[in-house]
Amino acid sequence: MMKAQTEVEIHEVLANRRSPRSLDSTAVLPKEDLLAILEAARWAPSANNGQPWRFFVGNRGDAVFTQILDSLASFNQGWAHRSSTLVLVAGVHTRADGTPNKGFLYDCGLAVSQMVFEVHHRGYVAHQMTGFDASKAAENLGVESSLTPVAVISIGTQAPSEQLQGAMLEREIAPRERKELSEIVIKGLPN
Ligand SMILES: Cc1cc2nc3c(=O)[nH]c(=O)nc-3n(C[C@H](O)[C@H](O)[C@H](O)COP(=O)(O)O)c2cc1C
Repeated sequence: MMKAQTEVEIHEVLANRRSPRSLDSTAVLPKEDLLAILEAARWAPSANNGQPWRFFVGNRGDAVFTQILDSLASFNQGWAHRSSTLVLVAGVHTRADGTPNKGFLYDCGLAVSQMVFEVHHRGYVAHQMTGFDASKAAENLGVESSLTPVAVISIGTQAPSEQLQGAMLEREIAPRERKELSEIVIKGLPN
């Protein structure tokens, strides 16, 4: 029921991926899986191979995890504290020649997309967040001013929905929805 409804088959990771909030608060992410997830992000394409993405990785119980968690909006803290790992993604917003790198957000998104794919491929779940205080994250983690915090990625093991309550539980079990292809393909949709 949660599988994406598509007109033709797409990769199973893409069809089944979703962003759960019910996570197992005891699960840890093994080192090899974490390394693979970071490698997947590392090998993303970027404009001029600029690779503007930078990652701050915290595992539940360590200082970096606590510093990232503290920067999240309270709604997000309410579920993301059960993550195995929290990753703050920050981007280098200036090119080597000092001019602004207008595409850094696009490149960071591509790296995160590959990271998320690898997370789900390995049987874990990822949940991206922009609901966080970038200044607080920068201060807590000592992020240098050449970097702009972009997003926080929760990585964990999915747990039964029932540990959530109220509106959060309803969102967890709601069917996934998307706009129709005909709405997003302005020209050239095959018929
Ligand atoms: C850039 C971005 C920011 C997001 N921020 C949040 C957030 O702060 N809190 C949250 O609970 N979900 C957040 N989400 C998750 C989206 O709500 C979710 O991806 C969307 O509803 C589609 O659901 P699905 O990923 O399960 O298909 C974010 C997703 C993205 C891509």
